[in-house]
Amino acid sequence: MKAQRATDSTLANLCLDYRSEVIGRSRLLHADAFEWLSRIPENSLHAIVTDPPYGIKEYNLDQIEKRSNGNGGIWRIPPSFDGHNRAPLPRFTALNQKERSLIREFFTEWGKVAAHALRPGAHIFIASNSFLSQLVFDALVKGGLEFRGELIRLVRTLRGGDRPKNAEAEYPGVCSMPRGCYEPWGILRKPLLQGMKVSDCLREFQTGGLRRIDADSPFNDVILSGRTPQRERKIADHPSLKPQALLRQIVHAALPLGSGIIADPFMGSGSTIAACEAVGLTSIGAERFLAYYQQSLQAAPRLAALRLDDLTEQKTDNELQPSFFD
Ligand SMILES: C[S@@+](CC[C@H](N)C(=O)[O-])C[C@H]1O[C@@H](n2cnc3c(N)ncnc32)[C@H](O)[C@@H]1O
Repeated sequence: MKAQRATDSTLANLCLDYRSEVIGRSRLLHADAFEWLSRIPENSLHAIVTDPPYGIKEYNLDQIEKRSNGNGGIWRIPPSFDGHNRAPLPRFTALNQKERSLIREFFTEWGKVAAHALRPGAHIFIASNSFLSQLVFDALVKGGLEFRGELIRLVRTLRGGDRPKNAEAEYPGVCSMPRGCYEPWGILRKPLLQGMKVSDCLREFQTGGLRRIDADSPFNDVILSGRTPQRERKIADHPSLKPQALLRQIVHAALPLGSGIIADPFMGSGSTIAACEAVGLTSIGAERFLAYYQQSLQAAPRLAALRLDDLTEQKTDNELQPSFFD
């Protein structure tokens, strides 16, 4: 009880002067991730679980508008399939060298501010995709984080697998990229203090390791996952909504002792915050885009209240609706 009161007061202090709302034991901020992480005191957070913007530009205001107008930009409208309209996908394969350098700079800078805000030994779980993960994880290491491996979310996406563009009939037996059947999440850690072992770090900072599923089962780095179900999409209409079934398993693993503060600095509709609430953990999320921030205030409590009977369930209500990111 006393420990929870201390966590609540730390959490309130982490809101600084940003607009914020309390949702259960968590806080939602309308803030820029870089600015917020660099302003909070060093060693404040016990973990980060996040799904960042990837092409850098797909969440710029002009690109979000183009998406909602069905108007091109980075958001490609894929052809319908079996009579189903597919949601817009960002055109990552169209990124040129300059844009790839921008991604590298973005994640190196973000790695630095995240390392400032995290406690030594604190973990980051960061969603990625098979096309950009190598670039992103390398940039995060340049920013001062330690690469600890990847979590593979086994999920069948609608990305890739297409025949060569405008030569489909000529090369019917070729696909230009494999059909994506997994989503890599980077597992990184703020380095332990020199000479510290995991056990020392757990005692001093409550970080350093990952929480086991139960006494007999360690956390595994492959999670079977369905696409985000329609009932969650009805609650939060965000193009990159991640499923509760996946996020609840990740946030559980992120705090080795089951206590402390998890942050999602690119929270979108608040799905990570909802997952923390659902499993009884404390979290704080930041979103820069006002409409998504407002969406998170409505969506997070409703997503948190969903009962999931089987966290590894593969079924979704509609396999063809969700976008590349979900
Ligand atoms: C990939 S989405 C995350 C969506 C989330 N997975 C969900 O389930 O709703 C990334 C989010 O980061 C936000 N964003 C982009 N740049 C940001 C920044 N500098 N600071 C805070 N949020 C940012 C975007 O508006 C977008 O909502």
